[in-house]
Amino acid sequence: MAGEFQAPRGTADLLPENEEAHRFVVGTFRKVTGRAGFRSIETPAFEDTALFQRGVGDSTDIVRKEMFTFEDKGGRSLTLRPEGTAPICRAWIEHGMNKLPQPVKLAYEGSFFRHERPQAGRYRQFHQVGIEVIGSGSPLADAEAICLLDAFLAELEVPDLELHLGSLGSPEARQEYLTELTSYLASRESELSEEVRDRVGSNPLRAFDSDDEGTSRVMEEAPLLLDRLDGEDREHFERVRELLDAAGVGYTVDPTLVRGLDYYGRTVFAFTCDRLGAQSEIGGGGRYDGLIARLGGPDTPAIGWAAGVERILLALDREAVAPELDLFLAWTEDSVAGRIPGLASELREKGISVGFDLAERNLKGQLKQADRAGARWTAILAADDSVELKEMETGDQRAADLTDLASIVAD
Ligand code: HAM
Repeated sequence: MAGEFQAPRGTADLLPENEEAHRFVVGTFRKVTGRAGFRSIETPAFEDTALFQRGVGDSTDIVRKEMFTFEDKGGRSLTLRPEGTAPICRAWIEHGMNKLPQPVKLAYEGSFFRHERPQAGRYRQFHQVGIEVIGSGSPLADAEAICLLDAFLAELEVPDLELHLGSLGSPEARQEYLTELTSYLASRESELSEEVRDRVGSNPLRAFDSDDEGTSRVMEEAPLLLDRLDGEDREHFERVRELLDAAGVGYTVDPTLVRGLDYYGRTVFAFTCDRLGAQSEIGGGGRYDGLIARLGGPDTPAIGWAAGVERILLALDREAVAPELDLFLAWTEDSVAGRIPGLASELREKGISVGFDLAERNLKGQLKQADRAGARWTAILAADDSVELKEMETGDQRAADLTDLASIVAD
């Protein structure tokens, strides 16, 4: 049935049968991060556009092409959040969270918006769960963050995962390296795709991401940032690797791991899942030691990650969950119907999930509804207060006392 309106392109309704699976992912996230002492934070769905321009970076695809930006009635430019890290740093600064014991460990979940070309695993409105650890530059914080993402995905039993680990070094080391890479790319300019050529000046690292054949060939011989890390960056990276080894978390060092946000430095990581095809990244993040200062706060190191809920569900390939109900109340004669809502409330107070037909069908129709509702039991009430209790799976039927209903069903 196609009505006049549909959900906008790249967005989807979260229908009841899928909402439960969604809730399961978010619930697991809360459990895993709660056990690690993270506290939840929620920021608005939109922010000043300048926060993302400055925070995520003017040269990123997100800021250049993918933001849903609009003007409010006062002429201010606002943007639906494309990601959560810049807003959380804004909140950390705004609420003086530097006065709290450091690091501050925050967990979040919600909708994010990117004007991307929709395809399986890539939407214009999607859900992320994520954490930020703000106020520690120690490799222990890196290891804790990565281990938590690993534990979260393991608890969900996401199959075929691979952890990619890299380091982008410090801004100074990166600057030197970028100069080297830019002149290397310039020396082979004619072999690069037009898109990469256009971007060499603003973001040469993205050349590693290109699917273009000629560009890929050039990048195979390109100098690698991992080989250019200075002493402290190298030590930091080695220490993170040691900690992951000690924790038994497997990874592949990926010298070309580039992420689509400008704020990263030092550790970067991403979990991919082979089953997902083109959009194989389930979750990822990294260290962003310069971001809080860039947004006007005190110089504060931080690390975090986010994972895409839709991509997790695609990887889990979970079946849509059928409805479930403990007890369906049916009645034989119209005169009994009036007692049903009160009885349902009483039973619900005892923790039993109860449903009944809301369309005044005859008994046959009511029993069909009980089936559809996924009821384990159906109680058929007659005018003389007698009850026939039917176990839906076996079809067994027996007489029962109204007062015993709760205990039988709860058993
Ligand atoms: P991100 O890699 O841009 O990082 O997004 C994190 C995750 O969100 C991705 O791994 C992917 O699963 C999911 N995702 C991204 N875009 C889409 C989309 N269009 N449709 C469906 N899922 C999507 C960040 O957002 C950083 N804020 C992560 C972070 C936190 N770094 C440090 N702290």
